[in-house]
Amino acid sequence: MHQLGVIGLGTMGANIARNAARNGAQVPVYNRTESKTKGFIKSYGKQGDFIHCKDLKSIVEALSPPRPVLLMVPAGKAVDAVLEELAPLLSEGDIIIDGGNSHYLDTERRSDELVSHGIHFLGMGISGGEEGALKGPSMMPGGSITAYNHLKDLLQLMAADDGEGGRCVSYIGPGGSGHFVKTVHNGIEYGVMQLLAETMDIFKKAGNLSNDELSDIYGAWNQSEELGSFLLEITEKIFQQKEGKKDLIDLIADRAKQKGTGKWTTDAAMTLGVPTPTINASVDARIISGDTAERAMGKKFPEALEEQISVPPSAKLRTLTRSGYELSLICAYNQGFRLIEAASRDLWNGTINLSDVARIWRGGCIIRSTKLKKFQYAYSSNQSTASAASEALIERFEGERQLDFRQVMKLGIELGIPLPAMTASLNYIDAMRAEHLPQNLVQAQRDFFGAHTYERVDKKGVFHTEW
Ligand code: 6PG
Repeated sequence: MHQLGVIGLGTMGANIARNAARNGAQVPVYNRTESKTKGFIKSYGKQGDFIHCKDLKSIVEALSPPRPVLLMVPAGKAVDAVLEELAPLLSEGDIIIDGGNSHYLDTERRSDELVSHGIHFLGMGISGGEEGALKGPSMMPGGSITAYNHLKDLLQLMAADDGEGGRCVSYIGPGGSGHFVKTVHNGIEYGVMQLLAETMDIFKKAGNLSNDELSDIYGAWNQSEELGSFLLEITEKIFQQKEGKKDLIDLIADRAKQKGTGKWTTDAAMTLGVPTPTINASVDARIISGDTAERAMGKKFPEALEEQISVPPSAKLRTLTRSGYELSLICAYNQGFRLIEAASRDLWNGTINLSDVARIWRGGCIIRSTKLKKFQYAYSSNQSTASAASEALIERFEGERQLDFRQVMKLGIELGIPLPAMTASLNYIDAMRAEHLPQNLVQAQRDFFGAHTYERVDKKGVFHTEW
């Protein structure tokens, strides 16, 4: 019989506990606030083999070695606090899994500390929100392979389907790599959400489209082979939500909050030297949206002269925007995968399998989408599969679609509609494919004022000029 102790019965913890029990595990549960454990047992006690634990000691006693204990507590200090109390109660060979959105460097540190106590530690990113946690999330475990092998069967039962008969869980790599991959998942999540927000802005400000029309557009995109995704599915529904006679979307304040994983992605990208402009722009966009004081000042800026600009007819605007969204979406995913690739190479000896990461994101998680199939194949170890899939992704940038993208960006710029993530994506593409970038001037300036030296196009070596 599988066993999984769960500490922390917030929405995610409770649903993960129920998921494990539904898949045949015995699940001792504990929450620091006892009333929460009581409430959980009252509501779900009959749905599975749960054990009501009143303290950490009881949860440890309820498990047989090697005892697997899953922490579902808020990332940060709470994790350290539980670990400090829990670790001394456990024995060598026991397993702790941190299922929260922890920072990967915290996970690396905790991993090292727990290894010295003989405890196997898994830092496991879990994506899918409330419903995913209950019905099948995508799980990204990293750290102790021994712990993973012990839990593998249960995790596979709990995880979502990947669409091709596999399950959305796979061992990511050592140390904090599982939490790193989850962080990048969230960075991409920020990117895609911002891209969709920008398409809404185009449709509303340039096209004057109604919420019903927007719902139809996102619904149609979601049905398409190229764009189908969870975020489109929920966006279609968001535009249908009423409150009385009003559309709820119009009553929601335009200030986005964040818990930090998007920013962590940007931090890591800067540290590892990987360009992630689409993701960075979406982090910035959230920050700007919440900066009430600056926005109040900004209102004093003169307006764009929009009356001289001709907006294409509605059908055309939809096509242009769709192209802009699709190509930017590919950029967001691409940047995320490049970042994971660099982290894998620099921090974890190249152990992360990118194809598998794309595969386990195909179901259960927030960024699940049909596009991920292409990325799964593009990173396949089979050379011909990989090049066919890469070409198929690159092909999306050919001809009309790229022209559409440029046209809708031009329209946004002319109308003064901020499209930071989309323009960042277009600039990313243009920079990546440019034969020549203007950084020769930057090098000259660096050498001029700081003797920082430069390389040349006509001969090898490092040069300095007395300017
Ligand atoms: C998921 C989500 C989840 C996260 C939210 C909130 O994969 O299920 O990423 O882990 O809680 O997305 O993130 P922000 O508050 O930073 O937007």
